[in-house]
Amino acid sequence: MSHTIVIFGASGDLTSRKLIPALYLLFKKKRLPEGTRIVGMSRTEFSHDAWRDELKKSTEKFTEKKFDADAWNDFAPNVYYHPGDLTELEDLKKLKKLLEEVEGGPAERVYYLSTAPRLYTAAIDQLGESGLANQEEGARRIVLEKPFGYDLGTAEKLNKDVNRVFPEKQVYRIDHYLGKETVQNLLVMRFANSIFEPLWNRNYIDHVQITVAEEVVVGRRGGYYDQAGVLRDMFQNHLLQLLMVTAMEAPVRFDADMVRDEKVKVLQAVRPMSADEIANETLRGQYAGYRKEEGVPKDSQTETFAALRLWVDNWRWNGVPFYLRSGKGMSCRTTQIVIQYNQPPHTLFDQKKSFIDACRLVMQIQPAEGIQLQIQTKVPDSGIMTRTSALDFRFCKEFQGEMPDAYQRLLLDAIQGDASLFARSDEVELAWGIIDPIIKTWRSDAAPTLHTYETGYWGPNESNDWMEEHGRQWFDVC
Ligand code: BG6
Repeated sequence: MSHTIVIFGASGDLTSRKLIPALYLLFKKKRLPEGTRIVGMSRTEFSHDAWRDELKKSTEKFTEKKFDADAWNDFAPNVYYHPGDLTELEDLKKLKKLLEEVEGGPAERVYYLSTAPRLYTAAIDQLGESGLANQEEGARRIVLEKPFGYDLGTAEKLNKDVNRVFPEKQVYRIDHYLGKETVQNLLVMRFANSIFEPLWNRNYIDHVQITVAEEVVVGRRGGYYDQAGVLRDMFQNHLLQLLMVTAMEAPVRFDADMVRDEKVKVLQAVRPMSADEIANETLRGQYAGYRKEEGVPKDSQTETFAALRLWVDNWRWNGVPFYLRSGKGMSCRTTQIVIQYNQPPHTLFDQKKSFIDACRLVMQIQPAEGIQLQIQTKVPDSGIMTRTSALDFRFCKEFQGEMPDAYQRLLLDAIQGDASLFARSDEVELAWGIIDPIIKTWRSDAAPTLHTYETGYWGPNESNDWMEEHGRQWFDVC
């Protein structure tokens, strides 16, 4: 069966920056199923050719050296445009007609909502009403971009609204972190090697750190960001996804529901916190200068940095804290997962050495993608002095070519009907169930202090003190 991908919100930034470049590069690599059509819809008036010309310019800019005019000329005839409002039934009926014309028979379709989230429910209702969601002439899948709701209540409502028209199996909620090669490699490392799993538990691991540090500040996104804050923007989705992939049990097969069943169990095991516990187990910060950003109120209390200590109360992880932190305006851009192993039970060498010198596994998710196993080695010609050295694996040395952008993998999976790397409704709701109480406490009188931090460092100094109180230290390496 042939395929069509319909992008709603086609004149927006995501379409030109990510979606079309990803589809074009998939086409160029001959990964897109033969004859896949792309149909854009938004309110801006374009003819098919005018939209193709716009996209050619933006794709050239965003794919840089990988752009090839000949490949574009082969790709462009499969691209169509339909001006209209996706919340208007008449416009969707016209779109349906265009789709039937260009498809000329049964076809599978992916509807990609790259629109403002406030339009989701109205858009989905109209997709149902217009017959566009009807599965008789081929599968109809829907892709949603985050945010999936603003809190638990709105997420539950959105899931119900979506599932009224599209069965859950047809719903693809994008978390672009799952499209990153290194996140998928974490699964491969854990479950395609037998040496890590036996040590991947409370008997050998002291704690786990998950850091998503961003050097960039909020910049022109102040209006959105001040309503969201770092917990909604990064934790409810990306950081909890990384936690799930790190902590989950092996699924029986790499099958969408089996993988997601195991991920869900991790969130079910995360220990709920009372308001008092939230005050001790979480830390919040805002970078100096945030309140001067465009669209941010002068007295904003919104966090641009957070650190949480979470406990996964199950057989494997009992007693092992998971430290999660993320912030804007930090020292550098780095996403890493650190498995800090226990110290040896009896110390023979360098009695004075501190805890952090125990063995650790560092998984660099980005930008220097790789894995380092940091171990103690003997310094030659030094009596019996030890030093930390790394067994260092780097993707760029091992494999040729650049890492593909996450959207290539995710778009292809949506077209091919593989939902393994997409968030399921229960996953999203459980994630809100963890984050919501923290946000509520942070907005109440019981909120812990909002620390200010200078940009260019690793968040507030208090975050280091907090770790020291736990007898631990952040792994601050770019
Ligand atoms: C987005 C957030 O989901 O992820 C942004 O809204 C953030 O604030 C971005 O900058 C980070 O993604 P990446 O892939 O650059 O780590």
